[in-house]
Amino acid sequence: MMNGRETLKINEKGHLEIGGADCVKLAKTFGTPLYVFDESYIRQMMSVYRDTLAKKYAGKGLVLYASKAFSCKAIYRIADEENIGVDVVSGGELYTALQAGFPAERIYMHGNNKLDYEIGEALDAKIGCIVADSYSEIDKIDREAEKRGLKQKILLRINPGVEAHTHAFVQTATTDSKFGFSIQNGTAEKAVAYALTKKNVRLDGYHCHIGSQIFEKQSFVLAAEKCIDFAASLKEKLGFVTKTLNLGGGFGVWYTDEDKKISPAGYAEYLEALIEAVERKAQEKNLDLPYLLIEPGRSIVGEAGITLYTVGAIKEIPSVRTYVAVDGGMFDNPRYALYQSKYTPLLANRALDEPTEIVSIAGKCCESGDLIAVNVNLPKAESGDILAVLSTGAYNYAMAMNYNRNLIPPCVLVKDGKAEYIVRPQTYADLTRNDVIPAHLEKKN
Ligand code: LLP
Repeated sequence: MMNGRETLKINEKGHLEIGGADCVKLAKTFGTPLYVFDESYIRQMMSVYRDTLAKKYAGKGLVLYASKAFSCKAIYRIADEENIGVDVVSGGELYTALQAGFPAERIYMHGNNKLDYEIGEALDAKIGCIVADSYSEIDKIDREAEKRGLKQKILLRINPGVEAHTHAFVQTATTDSKFGFSIQNGTAEKAVAYALTKKNVRLDGYHCHIGSQIFEKQSFVLAAEKCIDFAASLKEKLGFVTKTLNLGGGFGVWYTDEDKKISPAGYAEYLEALIEAVERKAQEKNLDLPYLLIEPGRSIVGEAGITLYTVGAIKEIPSVRTYVAVDGGMFDNPRYALYQSKYTPLLANRALDEPTEIVSIAGKCCESGDLIAVNVNLPKAESGDILAVLSTGAYNYAMAMNYNRNLIPPCVLVKDGKAEYIVRPQTYADLTRNDVIPAHLEKKN
């Protein structure tokens, strides 16, 4: 039931604890719904990847935290303190990282359709590298760099055509993908030749990312091999030497007992498998080892986070289903609505009670698909119970919204049993802050 890590424990009161903080107390102090993150888990995962790369890879490299999984100022501070880089996918993520004082040279920018102003902002900030995803983007970067008298380092996003076993919406490296230049149909090769003609960009190598929530090592290894094969063939054909290879993120995490539980050492093994493939292939093809980048997001923050809710209405529909409704829903976690994702909920105030019922956890939005978890085991829930949903650290707050003008819950970070806001609660005033009533609609007295 639990994710098998130090992060989560049940204390002598039978309450769930995260990072040494009692979840019932957290709910009382900060209210619900509430996102809670365990700082030590996040640091542990960042350092495992960082140290494995440093110790096991014969070349050099850098771990980039894929900040789309969870972006706020504090997480960039942690990544900076852990001496890793970050990837950002929008002007907004870039802005947040810079506001947190994150060093620009360790920021990489992605996106399949970066806007002119986003590229401009990236160049003005002098970020380390932009990953170009299309011809028009190579042109844009070249143009914007010329305006500023810069030569911008870029990588090309290539698509190795590896089908990974995950939800179709989070698969990114099949030929029918909006991301990257396909190796298989020859566009990647043409794009390299094209980028090399541009004066204000310096092509440094390739990026690939095959998808997310993937457990098979073989898919990652295959993608790495294909990238090295591609690098070797381009060296032969165009004399272009790949200096940097970014193999993306995608390592799966535990959500329910249908998923593997991977320990930090287990994640190190995933990275070691990638390293082994890169070293072996580079040697076979007689290439210098590239500067190696990886971009894990979910595996760094996913299991570090939980969401706390208060149980409200309980609706028993005889011989059909029992709905346990909570004070959150798809506005703080849209992943069931989007991907039919599975989660493990438990009663944080009665964590030792045996499950006796199969129920579905419903949100409070006016939408039948507003569910958090379907057909899950739970002790008989009562209104007022604190319900914890585990493994919500990645792509929950990051994907939260104000549907039905519900407030996006705050985030707290737990360190040594103490919790502090890292994202404060929204207020109703935040909801209407940008609303405008045109003169002709103004209320006339
Ligand atoms: N690098 C690139 C270029 C990516 O597109 C992604 C994720 C990552 C790295 C990080 O992948 P991770 O280690 O987190 O699997 N909203 C979806 C997930 C979308 C992932 C998008 N790209 C979800 O909730 O499952």
